[in-house]
Amino acid sequence: MNNKIYIETYGCQMNVADSETVASILDVNNYKIASEINNADVIIINTCSVRDNAEKKIWSRLDFIKSIKRKNKNLIVGIIGCMAQRIGEKMLEHPIVDFVAGPDAYRYLPELISNSYLNNKFCNTDFNINETYSGILQKKKDNENMSGFIAITRGCNNFCSYCIVPYTRGRERSANYNDIINEVKKLQENKFKELTLLGQNVNSYYFEDNLNKVNFPSLIEMVAKNAPEMRIRFTTSHPKDLSDELIDVIARNKNICNHIHLPVQSGSNKILERMNRKYTREWYLNRINVIKSKIPDIGLSSDIFCGFSGETEEDFQQTLSLMEEVCYDMAFMFKYSERPGTYAAKSLIDDVPEDVKKERLNRMIHLQNKISLKKNKADIGKTFEVLVEGFSKRSKEMLFGRTEQNKVVVFPSLNKKQGDTVMITIKDASSATLKGEITNS
Ligand code: SAH
Ligand code: SF4
Ligand code: F3S
Repeated sequence: MNNKIYIETYGCQMNVADSETVASILDVNNYKIASEINNADVIIINTCSVRDNAEKKIWSRLDFIKSIKRKNKNLIVGIIGCMAQRIGEKMLEHPIVDFVAGPDAYRYLPELISNSYLNNKFCNTDFNINETYSGILQKKKDNENMSGFIAITRGCNNFCSYCIVPYTRGRERSANYNDIINEVKKLQENKFKELTLLGQNVNSYYFEDNLNKVNFPSLIEMVAKNAPEMRIRFTTSHPKDLSDELIDVIARNKNICNHIHLPVQSGSNKILERMNRKYTREWYLNRINVIKSKIPDIGLSSDIFCGFSGETEEDFQQTLSLMEEVCYDMAFMFKYSERPGTYAAKSLIDDVPEDVKKERLNRMIHLQNKISLKKNKADIGKTFEVLVEGFSKRSKEMLFGRTEQNKVVVFPSLNKKQGDTVMITIKDASSATLKGEITNS
């Protein structure tokens, strides 16, 4: 039977969660997950479209898969995710692509696969505003029953002028809180240690029925109280929706991790306005100050990019100064990549030359490394609760895990294993990792 599926995932955590949803949908339809790409009957690539190089990676991956198909003529190849949605039917013109499915069409995958075996090439990129994949418990690879995701919102209504996501994921919708709590219970039954609530703009969650009106702060508190033994994380928050109520909920619930990923994108008001981010530098810094005052040991991270339309050296300097003022523990940094169909592609000139973008990105990374090193060094001597994720890449005698601030810590294993919670005292730090030892106290 041709039923072994290999799923490869690119892009954000939403895609990671979606791949698990897809695995689950296929599992109930009697497909099996292959752990090796070369043993697969069907290869599914879950794609990202956020920057041009994310798509380039997929095209070159398809060239590689062509060589596998040469050896296995019956191999089926499917493209799903954001690039599938953006490019649609045209992707079927690629010689090895058999089917295409957008983010709202995953329930049709068993059908798309059977049709591929009949040599019918189909593309389903219909949006479905009611699709939240509620009730489908994501399927984990073996030994990965530790960290779970629940996508509580899908889609995005913000239309930041540079961003492709509202076009690839459709309008924002929130899952029913009863379904979310049921999924939390299933993760609990399966002894998960950590749970991340996901959404492109997770803190704009809102669901109303006859009994309740549930916003994000009340949802996350409900989740935290239902699963007191689990660590609760959430991503990504939009600064415009980061309320005092949410900050208070994080501060008063011990099992909600003291970490906020709060993408700023730019430190210049002129650029923020062109980006349609709907907040100012001052609003953002005020949010950060309130967070720091109510949760002193908060871990802060961000997404920032340089070289957007109209960005002058002065605007860029304001981004650097904001980074210094906030003192992020970590940041994902990019250079602007124009995306077809967005407001910026239609109405704003991509006027920062490529070499200037590169040079600004380098300066930004250099600064963040310095800040991360300073923040990590300040942790030396402190003790953190760490959830063990696995062996360190470099040595089987070392384990790694994360603090609630989301910092990676490496330490000697001493018979501990994945899923254990240990107290670690930090002895050394680089800009990317903390090093420590288990403390008994
Ligand atoms: N929903 C999240 C992030 C979505 S995309 C949010 O609103 O913060 C992840 C990150 O990619 C963004 O935060 C942004 O920093 C970056 N990004 C998005 N579009 C981009 C583009 N066209 N060029 C460069 N970076 C981009
Ligand atoms: Fe993109 Fe903005 Fe939506 Fe984030 S909030 S996904 S950056 S449009
Ligand atoms: Fe990429 Fe889509 Fe996520 S464009 S960043 S995979 S929502």
